[in-house]
Amino acid sequence: MCILCKDNEAVKINIANIIFLHYNGKDKYSVIKGRTVGVTMNMIEAKNLVFEYIRRDEEGNVESIHRAVDEVSLDVKKGDFVAILGHNGSGKSTIAKHINAILLPSEGTLVVNGIDTKEEDRLWDIRQSAGMVFQNPDNQIIASVVEEDVGFGPENMGVPTEEIWKRVEDSLKAVGMYEYRTHSPNKLSGGQKQRVAIAGIMAMRPQCIILDEPTAMLDPNGRKEVIRTIRELNKTEHVTVLLITHYMDEVIEADKVIVMDDGKVVMQGTPKEIFSQVDKLKQYRLDVPQVTELAYELKKEGIPLPDGILTVEEFGIEIKKLI
Ligand SMILES: Nc1ncnc2c1ncn2[C@@H]1O[C@H](COP(=O)(O)OP(=O)(O)OP(=O)(O)O)[C@@H](O)[C@H]1O
Ligand SMILES: [Mg+2]
Repeated sequence: MCILCKDNEAVKINIANIIFLHYNGKDKYSVIKGRTVGVTMNMIEAKNLVFEYIRRDEEGNVESIHRAVDEVSLDVKKGDFVAILGHNGSGKSTIAKHINAILLPSEGTLVVNGIDTKEEDRLWDIRQSAGMVFQNPDNQIIASVVEEDVGFGPENMGVPTEEIWKRVEDSLKAVGMYEYRTHSPNKLSGGQKQRVAIAGIMAMRPQCIILDEPTAMLDPNGRKEVIRTIRELNKTEHVTVLLITHYMDEVIEADKVIVMDDGKVVMQGTPKEIFSQVDKLKQYRLDVPQVTELAYELKKEGIPLPDGILTVEEFGIEIKKLI
């Protein structure tokens, strides 16, 4: 089969007049015909997505409407690590809940792994494509032994027992928690618990994970562990990652950063492009990494440093050039 693909764009092919031959691997070809199919390089595609929280009184009359997501269009490419930043209440979690079809758009569309989230009969496929990790690991761990907890998702999906054990082993190894497989989750640190929660999602073999402030309740060590784990999964397992965070230093290595404010996407770009615009970020009530702020202040005092310095190493290199 040949697919003519425009880079990064969904290609709709009307196959009504095309015959596809499916080879069974041995001796038989069968003819497949079907309706329009979509082929996409994007894991997530939002087009003019709107979501309104509607509050009703006891009789069901609308009391108030709050537009939490306002005409958002964005793409996340397969295999990318994308970070979403935004002040409290800017609509980040509301978008995350759409990707898992916990919420459905009031207007516009959201397509996850080629599936429109409004297709009710594809809910299971959507949830299998995109797994969610939330802020509080305690709310996500249910079993009393680590390996049982990680196996819970695939078991629910009807995965055969032997395959479950393989997935549990692979997932716990991927997050560096294999040696704790027989431990009780209660006795783990916050960072370790969150890694077990991530392993539980990985065991369902999603192509994408959405993490909504996964480090918000962790100490600095736990935060580092979890972020390192997420990066590893992205690099080695090629899992698409959508990370929602308030910590600027967690987004430095992302492929793309999306900034939200008041339900809208207000900035998109590489970390360098985003953190080169310190004034604009401050306008959206966001901070920048400390070293970026220092370089920015020095530049304002007349020291010729480039915009968007993100790491101490980069800062050191630029300072040496001036000596
Ligand atoms: N269940 C709800 N009912 C009504 N309004 C809601 C509900 N959940 C969120 N909102 C409102 O929608 C807006 C977006 O909320 P959301 O939780 O998506 O923001 P957020 O960017 O995730 O914020 P935070 O950084 O605090 O987690 C906010 O104004 C919030 O008050
Ligand atoms: Mg939130």
